[in-house]
Amino acid sequence: MKPPVLIVDDEVSLCGLLEVFFEKKGYAPFSAHDVRGALARMEGPEPLMAMVDLSLGGESGLTVVKSLMEKWPRLPVVVMTAYGTVEKAVEAVKLGAYDFISKPFEMVFLGKVVEKAVATRVLEDENRELKEIIRRQGVELVGQSEPVRHLRERIEAIASSESTVLITGESGTGKELVAKLIHQKSLRAHKPFVVVNCSALSENLLESELFGHEKGAYTSAHADKDGLFAVAHGGTVFLDEIGEMPLRTQVKLLRVIQEREITKVGGTASESINVRILAATNVNLEDAVGQGRFREDLYYRLNVLRIYTPALHERGDDPALLATHFLGRKGHGRKRFSPGALAQIREYAWPGNVRQLENAVERAIAFSTGEVIEYLELDAATPVAPGETSSGASENGVMASANGLDPTLNDIERAYIFWVLSQHHWHKPTAAKILGLDISTLYRKIEKYGLKAQT
Ligand SMILES: Nc1ncnc2c1ncn2[C@@H]1O[C@H](COP(=O)(O)OP(=O)(O)OP(=O)(O)O)[C@@H](O)[C@H]1O
Ligand SMILES: [Mg+2]
Repeated sequence: MKPPVLIVDDEVSLCGLLEVFFEKKGYAPFSAHDVRGALARMEGPEPLMAMVDLSLGGESGLTVVKSLMEKWPRLPVVVMTAYGTVEKAVEAVKLGAYDFISKPFEMVFLGKVVEKAVATRVLEDENRELKEIIRRQGVELVGQSEPVRHLRERIEAIASSESTVLITGESGTGKELVAKLIHQKSLRAHKPFVVVNCSALSENLLESELFGHEKGAYTSAHADKDGLFAVAHGGTVFLDEIGEMPLRTQVKLLRVIQEREITKVGGTASESINVRILAATNVNLEDAVGQGRFREDLYYRLNVLRIYTPALHERGDDPALLATHFLGRKGHGRKRFSPGALAQIREYAWPGNVRQLENAVERAIAFSTGEVIEYLELDAATPVAPGETSSGASENGVMASANGLDPTLNDIERAYIFWVLSQHHWHKPTAAKILGLDISTLYRKIEKYGLKAQT
């Protein structure tokens, strides 16, 4: 559908001319010749822009401008004035008109005014859409406990600062989530948020990822590549697990922070960058400095602002709140916890923090058949049937560790026994045969691991 354009002018011949002009540009113009006609047109869809003559016979076009602005505050309205009545045009602009143009005007000039008005409008719409997407994707920091309230205040307080932030806290406590929130609440929100996991890559790869490389820097570097600091231009770079960054890379990072410049691997020219740096660690950086694994100067550069994500067991009744939140999000609002399951959630210590809780709820949803979740698999690995996926599943697809850490042999044994049992409707003689155990050993292990059939 061609975007509609509203033309309001009592001069019918000028309307005709403008209609031809807009049609040629690919718009769908429609004209009105007086206030009443214009108001009638306003029952239709919102135009892309409007052209309004300020003197409509005996009536004032300002009435039309006012109504248009009330109905569609973002509509660009260009007012047309007769020669020598600029004050009226100024009044219209004060009412919210986008621009004015004096009659008689050259078509070329009109073309420019229209182009500018439309471009502004399109840009505004785009921005609104983006904001809406951000709002919808908007991550949430769930929790009502005192430490979480404090965390929220701290995020608000430091979001608008440009300083480097060091986020500390145990694994799974929401460090990355906090980093995202800081970005989203900052002036950089509409620019990229780039995450780099410093422990996942080799030294060379990490440097090439961060700083980019020039063609020929390695045998595999067939073309120039921008680093993430360049990709994140105007936005935020989140350096996760900064404590694992190799010492050589630390030196380069320090230079980036001090000089706001990067040099591509294999290159000589430096380019200036505009990023805010957030870093997270679950190791104690002070200790790492003491042991010579982390540069002291870099530590001081990163530690300008500090934020701590508390462990889940420090968060009062938040585990229940979070569990309900995850259940609502992943269980599509159809499932609920039994009082027993809630008690279990409240009593458990959650060594793997929010991530463990999230995984436990996800698994409970997957394993529960009815609407009520009676019980959560907590203190050890929970099996995932081969082929099934679960966010907690490890590569072998058979099991996942409960706390997001590597499973112990006991975890694996427990998970495997549980899985075989559940595959065979808890028929212990069959399970014992498959497991290669005699039945009394199986009973002992069931007892040892506290295995129960889930309903
Ligand atoms: N307060 C919270 N409200 C809602 N979701 C949360 C909250 N805290 C953490 N989460 C969720 O828990 C999961 C783990 O959080 P996140 O990845 O941010 O932790 P982390 O501290 O970076 O962990 P790690 O050190 O293991 O990388 C994510 O899915 C995150 O969205
Ligand atoms: Mg993380």
